[in-house]
Amino acid sequence: MKIAFGSDHAGFALKEFLRDSFKFKGFEVIDLGTYYPTPADYPIYAKKVAGTVLSNNADFGVLICGTGLGMSITANKIAGIRAGLCMSVEYAELARKHNNANVICLGSRFIENDKALKIVEKFISTGFDGDKPNGERHKRRVAEIDEIL
Ligand code: RB5
Repeated sequence: MKIAFGSDHAGFALKEFLRDSFKFKGFEVIDLGTYYPTPADYPIYAKKVAGTVLSNNADFGVLICGTGLGMSITANKIAGIRAGLCMSVEYAELARKHNNANVICLGSRFIENDKALKIVEKFISTGFDGDKPNGERHKRRVAEIDEIL
């Protein structure tokens, strides 16, 4: 499994931590920046990660800024991206099960590294309920999202 990471300056330290943690666990990781803790504009990195997921060069994207809000607002403007701001393990599970989210956003200013790791682990290891028996409603709802635009 390949995971693409992106952050602004506020998410930089958490992005480095998560990238290294998943690399250590044997995942293929793609670091799309920022590569420095100096001020960086989050839309640049949201676009890079979204493009990498949409071109199937990554299975999932992880986007981190101070709140996770700027990243999720930006990523969700891009057709085909379903980005969820997940600040708990339960949200990460439901973002996958119900929304088939392909990008997870985190707010580094409101979360500890270890919790963020658990959240992303849950996100990437949970399947979409729409692909399971009795999950037709989730498939239909996600298809309704895709029809917009
Ligand atoms: C940067 O100060 C901050 O605005 C950014 O990281 C993010 O929280 C925006 O949504």
